[in-house]
Amino acid sequence: MAGRTPLIAGNWKMNLDHLQAIAFVQKLAWTLRDKGHDVATAEVAVFPPFTDLRSVQTLVNADDLPVRYGAQDLSEHDSGAYTGEVSGVFLAALGCSYVIIGHSERRQYHGETDEVVAAKIAAAHRHGIVPVVCVGETAEDLEQHGPSAVPVAQLRAALAGAQRGSEVVVAYEPVWAIGSGQAATPQQAQSVAEALRAVVAEELGAEAGESTRILYGGSVKAANIAGFLREPDVDGALVGGASLQVEEFASIVRFDKHVGTL
Ligand code: PGA
Repeated sequence: MAGRTPLIAGNWKMNLDHLQAIAFVQKLAWTLRDKGHDVATAEVAVFPPFTDLRSVQTLVNADDLPVRYGAQDLSEHDSGAYTGEVSGVFLAALGCSYVIIGHSERRQYHGETDEVVAAKIAAAHRHGIVPVVCVGETAEDLEQHGPSAVPVAQLRAALAGAQRGSEVVVAYEPVWAIGSGQAATPQQAQSVAEALRAVVAEELGAEAGESTRILYGGSVKAANIAGFLREPDVDGALVGGASLQVEEFASIVRFDKHVGTL
C-alpha cells in the first residue's frame, strides 16, 4: 500500500433502487461508526445505479457521512443527441467522486472497446471525476497469454491519451474471477498489479505510478480481503456481490482489523 490510502469500492451493478440505496448507505455509515472505523485506514465508496445517485447525494450531504460515491459508467460526450446516455457534467453536479469505466460487463455486453474506454476517461477528467479504470483477462486469455498481457495492453490503450499526472484508480479484475466465487490468489493479484503500476508510470509519469491506487476485484469477500491488502501493489478492492450486504461490506472495509486472517 506504500502510503496510499486503500479504497474499498462497492460496485452494486444493476441492484438496489433509490429507496434501498438510502437504507443501505445509512446502515453502512452507522455500522462503520459503531465499529469505530477510521477513514484514514480505508476510504469507502459505493457505486449505485444512476437513478439512485441523487438520493445518495442528499443523504451523504445532509448527514455528512464519510462515504463517497460514484457512477458505474458515463458518456464519452458531454451533451447532445445521445439518447439514454449520462453526461459527466451531470455526474459532477451530483457530487460523484468517481466513475467506473470499462468494466468487463460493459466491454462484453455493450461492445466497449479500448478506444471508447479512453474517450470515457477523458470525459471523466474533463469534469474532475476520478475514473476507476477496469482491466482484466478472460479464462481463455489467461490460458493463451498468461495473466498480465491483456490487462497491461488494455491499460496502456486506456491511458494513452490521458495527461501526465492525471488521477486515476485502476481495478484489476480477472473476468474469470468476477461473480464466480473463485478469486485470484493474492500473489496473482500482486504480480499483475505490479505490471499495471509500471504502465501507469510509463503513461502518466513516475509520481502517478507511485500514488495511483490499484484495486483487485473478483469474488472479494470479508474472508479473503486481508490477503490482498497485504500485497505491496494492491491498494483496495472493487467488490461486486459482497458489496450488497451491509455487514459483509463493512467487514471488508475494516480489513485492517483482520489482517492476520486469510
Ligand atoms: P464480484 O464482482 O465481487 O461479484 O466478483 C466484482 C466486479 O464485477 O466488480
